Amino acid sequence: MVSGFSLSSLFGHFRSVYYEVFSFSNKLIKGHCKIWIFQPFYVLASGSLVTFLLAIMCAYLYLFPKFQPVTDSYETPKSSNSVGSCNVFEGKWIQDETYPLYNASDCPFAERGFNCLANGRKDRRYTKWRWKPNNCEIPSFNAREILEKLRGKRIAFVGDSLSRTQWESMICLLMTGVEDKRSVYEINGNKITKRIRFLGVRFSSFNLRIDFYRSVFLVHPGPVPRHAPKRVKSTLKLDQMDHISNEWTDTDVLIFNSGHWWTRTKLFEMGCYFQVGGSLKLGMPTTTAFKAALNTWASWVDTSINTNRTSVFFRTFEASHWSGQNRNSCKVSRLPSLDTKGKDRSSISDTIIDVVKKTAAPVTVLHVTPMGAFRGDAHVGSWSDNPSVPDCSHWCLPGVPDMWNEILFSYLLSKNGTYLQ
Ligand SMILES: *[C@@H]1O[C@H](CO)[C@@H](O)[C@H](O)[C@H]1NC(C)=O
Ligand SMILES: *[C@@H]1O[C@H](CO)[C@@H](O)[C@H](O)[C@H]1NC(C)=O
Ligand SMILES: *[C@@H]1O[C@H](CO)[C@@H](O)[C@H](O)[C@H]1NC(C)=O
Repeated sequence: MVSGFSLSSLFGHFRSVYYEVFSFSNKLIKGHCKIWIFQPFYVLASGSLVTFLLAIMCAYLYLFPKFQPVTDSYETPKSSNSVGSCNVFEGKWIQDETYPLYNASDCPFAERGFNCLANGRKDRRYTKWRWKPNNCEIPSFNAREILEKLRGKRIAFVGDSLSRTQWESMICLLMTGVEDKRSVYEINGNKITKRIRFLGVRFSSFNLRIDFYRSVFLVHPGPVPRHAPKRVKSTLKLDQMDHISNEWTDTDVLIFNSGHWWTRTKLFEMGCYFQVGGSLKLGMPTTTAFKAALNTWASWVDTSINTNRTSVFFRTFEASHWSGQNRNSCKVSRLPSLDTKGKDRSSISDTIIDVVKKTAAPVTVLHVTPMGAFRGDAHVGSWSDNPSVPDCSHWCLPGVPDMWNEILFSYLLSKNGTYLQ
């Protein structure tokens, strides 16, 4: 633990230089391109969109005059692997007035961009849904019990901004069980920002650390090889783990995600191409590269993680709810969707599940794709810190990521000897 602390301060400087490289391309994507693409479309589309939606709504009410939120309809399709045991990821969203479990305005670790209520969202129904697996119950949330169980532990989330959301959610959930809120603090006094490479929050009364590492690809970025074509501005070394992965081994719980950045827009259009060994793989599709990167991750888990101590989780792709012809308009609904419209399936999730099956080490897949697929009502939309860029990818807090954590806690608290030894 102690060595972990000094190591992280030692590498602090290194880290900030390193992440500048990626922050630049990120800024272009997030700050420049998105505004450029979405804003005019949004303004243009919103008029006709409203008319269109009104028409749909009228038609719907005409067809189903007694429209009620029939909670039983929000169900995931059955799959064959659930026979005889409970698959917590197959179930439905049911209304529960005891939710939400915290107020984001009272939690310094819920970033403003995800605090939809503080950003002007008026309807609160979206905060009052609980996930109910078909064949079992997720234990009701008890912050004190979980804090006691996690005493002396170190948890780390690794991945993109959706990992950061889950990290924020976990801290906010657990802070409801802490009397002196000042006893919970970021160890370097850093504020949460979109591109920060590392954040570590300490619950000092419980000697508990909950960390976040931003590593959107999990593998290591590299310099441009000599004689590379001009369009190559940076590379991703698919056969090398992100170099800060050495900071992830001294942990009790590790939760990974990756997937949202493996797109042409975020890679090739930014001049980032793949590399294996010394050779550039200019023609390699993102899907193939993602699989290669995950295989690198899998061998790293098998060789570098002491699974006697560390419980490893991988969260699958999170459903987004963009709509419109170019999938670039964002209309947040008031209620969960009645069906998943195919969003419960994702080839990225399939790849994750496939690769995890082949690891020798026990890794638990948090298959959140189906449950999120219903929740077109739970996205940030325009209630973020930048309302001019609508967002149908990230989730409001409190909200859907809290349920990911409740499920994660249910594993950690289970009597099954696999977790938290
Ligand atoms: C959350 O707390 C803030 C300030 O502490 C308060 O103004 C707001 O009404 C609360 N929100 C909810 C949903 O209770
Ligand atoms: C893990 O535990 C098993 C069984 O107790 C033991 O045989 C093995 O050596 C341990 N591995 C490590 C890396 O500590
Ligand atoms: C614990 O859970 C894992 C994964 O669900 C399962 O493979 C294993 O058999 C369980 N072990 C016990 C002792 O119940």
